[in-house]
Amino acid sequence: MAFTKPTPRHRQRVLFIFGTRPEAIKLCPIVLHMRTRPDEFDVKVCVTAQHREMLDQVLALFQVQPDHDLNVMRPNQTLSQSTARIIAALEPVLLAEKPDLVIVQGDTTTTFCGALAAFYHRIAVGHVEAGLRTGDLWQPFPEELNRVLTTRLAKLHFAPTSSSAGNLRADGVDDAAIFITGNSGIDAVLHVRDRLQAGELTGYQGVALEPGRKLVLVTAHRRENFGDGLTRLYRAVGQLALRPDVQIIYPVHPNPNVRQPAEALLGGLPNVHLIAPLDYVPFVDLMQRSYLILTDSGGVQEEAPSLGKPVLVLREKTERPEAVEAGTVRLVGTDGEKILAEAGALLDDAGQYQRMSMTHNPYGDGQASRRISDVIANGVFLD
Ligand code: UD1
Ligand code: UDP
Repeated sequence: MAFTKPTPRHRQRVLFIFGTRPEAIKLCPIVLHMRTRPDEFDVKVCVTAQHREMLDQVLALFQVQPDHDLNVMRPNQTLSQSTARIIAALEPVLLAEKPDLVIVQGDTTTTFCGALAAFYHRIAVGHVEAGLRTGDLWQPFPEELNRVLTTRLAKLHFAPTSSSAGNLRADGVDDAAIFITGNSGIDAVLHVRDRLQAGELTGYQGVALEPGRKLVLVTAHRRENFGDGLTRLYRAVGQLALRPDVQIIYPVHPNPNVRQPAEALLGGLPNVHLIAPLDYVPFVDLMQRSYLILTDSGGVQEEAPSLGKPVLVLREKTERPEAVEAGTVRLVGTDGEKILAEAGALLDDAGQYQRMSMTHNPYGDGQASRRISDVIANGVFLD
């Protein structure tokens, strides 16, 4: 049985489903763009609230008010718990809204559950940021599996780059269903960067940045790094903080598996500032003001090249090879010696630093929201 087939070129009823901070940052620009085209789109937003505070920060910034809020987050939730809650809670929303298309983004539990719930109701799925792959189901865990499964469920695949489009073709996805659009996260970061530069937004106003010290910005939250990986990373960050020429700021993810060891191993150190997750605008400002970024985040790996900031990626494998190939991002994993050696080289060797801090946009040009909307407006997802 095929998907429901509305009349082509009618006003598309689009339901966005998202739940975490990065999904919100990457989907709100598309929601806002579609809302500027009311003749073409009837847009609804359902948040699972897999994240609560970190999601609400983004919704407030973009002034997106959800039509449905499933409020599923629980402290220290397991993957099975969030999966079960999200699937069950989505059903009445899909029955009430009966959209032509559900849009999901990325590779979280909400992404996969949104696609699966839509499929159960024979509703077509559009996948934003499709085709990222490491080829290893355990890295990142469980996101690589979520991507693979979401690809299988989706009807429309919005690949950020030609390399991700190639991964989709290799998975057997029909070329006609793949659209290279750039990553909508770049729409968000360029917009914020430009408005910060124009003085229209207020930047970071927390910890005083010390003149003469180079700011090293740290973020970490990947499940495969929980335990030993984070312990090795935190010990290396503690060592790095002994250098008199650096200042370290680390907005700590609220997941207790991240926060508790961070407080235990880094909490007392004078040159390491552990702070709460930042709102998106001050975080972009802090990226711009940083010398070097240490992260296992996917989104930060994409944004930093647009801001000309070198990144040491705290993973063994990345699904974002473009910036590695361009030389602005390096994989260091969680081996303490390697982290210290690579960070030291960038702090001490101006030539190496210059080569890594080139500004470029391998992940997009800020126009992804428009391209994705154009495809959907054409109704090409109809059989
Ligand atoms: C999730 C995604 C990951 C994404 C990350 C972005 C999955 C499996 N993982 O990981 O792909 O990179 O979000 O940050 O979907 N918490 C709060 N407040 C918040 C958010 C989280 O307290 O606003 C705490 C809660 O205790 C929650 C825990 O963090 O139970 C874990 O949240 P969860 O969404 O399950 O996993 P993340 O590690 O955030
Ligand atoms: N970010 C933020 N505040 C922070 C840390 C990160 O707004 O304190 C933004 C960051 O700019 C990027 C996104 O959150 O756009 C990345 O989210 P995260 O690292 O949680 O998830 P991932 O991208 O790894 O899935």
